[in-house]
Amino acid sequence: MIKKESIYFDYNNMMTDYVGDITGITDEDINSQKISAKKAFTKVAEGRGKNMMGWTELPYNQKDTVTEIVSTAKYVRKTFDNFVVLGIGGSALGPMALFQALCHLHHNELPKSKRKAPKFYVEDNVDPERMAALLDIIDVKKTMFNVITKSGSTSETMTQYLIIYDILKKELGEQASKHIIATTSESKGNLIKIAKKEGFKTFYIPDGVGGRFSELCPVGLLPAAVLGIDIKLLLEGAKYMDKRCSKADVRKNPALMAALLQYIAIQKGNNISVMMPYADGLKLMADWYAQLWGESLGKAVDLDGNKVYAGQTPVKSLGVTDQHSQVQLYTEGPFDKVITLIGVVNYRKTVEIPNGCEDIPAVNFLCGHSMNELITAEMNATEYALTRAQRLNNKIILPEINAFTMGQLMMFFMLQTAYIGALLNIDTFNQPGVEEGKNATYALLGREGYEEKAVELRNKKPKNENYII
Ligand code: PA5
Repeated sequence: MIKKESIYFDYNNMMTDYVGDITGITDEDINSQKISAKKAFTKVAEGRGKNMMGWTELPYNQKDTVTEIVSTAKYVRKTFDNFVVLGIGGSALGPMALFQALCHLHHNELPKSKRKAPKFYVEDNVDPERMAALLDIIDVKKTMFNVITKSGSTSETMTQYLIIYDILKKELGEQASKHIIATTSESKGNLIKIAKKEGFKTFYIPDGVGGRFSELCPVGLLPAAVLGIDIKLLLEGAKYMDKRCSKADVRKNPALMAALLQYIAIQKGNNISVMMPYADGLKLMADWYAQLWGESLGKAVDLDGNKVYAGQTPVKSLGVTDQHSQVQLYTEGPFDKVITLIGVVNYRKTVEIPNGCEDIPAVNFLCGHSMNELITAEMNATEYALTRAQRLNNKIILPEINAFTMGQLMMFFMLQTAYIGALLNIDTFNQPGVEEGKNATYALLGREGYEEKAVELRNKKPKNENYII
């Protein structure tokens, strides 16, 4: 029996019985892959805590880290008006997702007495206009900056650091270092060297925890704790989901079943995974998922060196907003998508629809209902319409959005990603495709050691002017 606070995974509408046989999945399909699913489970189970799978152990091995984070967060909350994360990719998306899910949707606009935490910003780009805009609204003297980079060498993050630390030194002199917390690898990279030299407070990203799997380590826990989120409950949620996914039998392991269904769906030509939460608080959770799914599964070669060009393109969508933008495509476009709806049973607020427009029945029917009923009805109606149009869809139901369910949801997606990576026989945890662009950037900006790449770029085929109109 599933616990009341448990999230659950409903895959009825992935099945031929419900969506027909265009791309529908049968029990026989699942049974024929049972052995592969078991092998994927075993691979993940045996890999726990090793190499790049340190993230599986984060709910269990961070007692002292959590204590230190809670005490640092207490100090930051008391002392600073703003908390700014400088980071990108896995060092930014998780903090953004939890902020949106678990804080007031207009947190920064609330008066301090109601906010009870610093204003929160995440700078995850190097758009000069955005940096200038941030500097227009914050007083750096009242701001704590959290520089987050596992590698300690990501150009975007280090650029932000250089700009901010320069301003801090000009404004605060020797006190500048007290406005930076570095979250980085203890054993390698430039940020740890800088942090030691400058005397920054530092938290460590464990070696076996890669960027997109790092939300449950200090990368995500510190910003969350500063915002007043119960990080112990978040980790409890992750632990609870981890336990629910501890069986090798695919029918008893929700993340393994979710992975297997996507794996089978890919074989049937469904190369797009749409994540569609029916809650504004989960919009950025879909962004976080998109990186996890896209960067982990998009791989040219498998573990045996075969060219496989694996992956499933993640698409972020928001219910009900995107019903008026994307659902037409989802119901009538190509049969190439799996749509995952995320529903919430109890929204944290209830908004009633008052009486009005008594003489217009086509509007008045809404009166007496609540927005809660409306959003749920719209989700169920979209589910019905997708199913009727024979489109693969599944649903993750959250009893409520809270720290416990967010911990579950993140662990569910991370395990699902690891399982499908094992089914696809790829390296889920590397990102070689990102390196080429990074190296070319270094070469273009004259970084030492990238001279050859610079020559290669200078000699690249010139653009044909006829193709620019
Ligand atoms: O998942 C990953 O490893 C990447 O997306 C990284 O998170 C991203 O490139 C940022 O890297 P870093 O934390 O080293 O600055």
